[in-house]
Amino acid sequence: MTKNICVLVSGGGTNLQALIDAEKRGELGSGKITCVIASKADAYALERAKNNGIKTRTLIRKDYSDIASYSKAMRDILLDEKADLVVYAGFMTILDENVCDAFPNKMINVHPALIPSFCGKGFYGLHVHEAALAKGVKVSGATVHFVTAECDAGPIILQKAVEVKNGDTPESLQKRIMENAEWKILPKAVQLFCDGKITVKDGVTIIAE
Ligand code: GAR
Repeated sequence: MTKNICVLVSGGGTNLQALIDAEKRGELGSGKITCVIASKADAYALERAKNNGIKTRTLIRKDYSDIASYSKAMRDILLDEKADLVVYAGFMTILDENVCDAFPNKMINVHPALIPSFCGKGFYGLHVHEAALAKGVKVSGATVHFVTAECDAGPIILQKAVEVKNGDTPESLQKRIMENAEWKILPKAVQLFCDGKITVKDGVTIIAE
């Protein structure tokens, strides 16, 4: 049976594009991107969805006074959309436990570092790569994990390491990590989920061969 995938976005949407391209190649298993929901009205990701005939909705973070009311509204939208899987693809808002409880082990996020490094509150977008370069790590990468109420702390599904090079800027490192890790492991994790190959036991995932 088809699995409805709702993708949450806030910005450029290159990870959304990777998912759209994977679906076109038949690489999302039984998954189908049925709705893209943006937290910002000017998110370019919305154009990518429209260009590919995918339904879009906006839920503007600034229209809500607090995270609790925003989370409740998001939960209602996701239930309305009958989401089987929720994917955070560059979604920059931390939703509360009301959403996570409604979709236990059914929400996944891509993070642009090797968790547990450079993650948690305040580590998003280019800030992650600035912190990695400031620390002088020689390897960074990306992680796809289940979303829980604690930011970036849910069970890890896939990770991919990427080399840090001399002279890297946050922008060059971000680009290398997107191209070599994020755009590969996010669609792969979605495919594994849709094929029913991921189980979670004691906070750890087991991926069926
Ligand atoms: C990506 O690098 C993604 O991993 C990161 O923001 C970028 C969004 O790019 N997400 C986070 O930092 C979430 N904590 P995109 O809009 O082009 O996919």
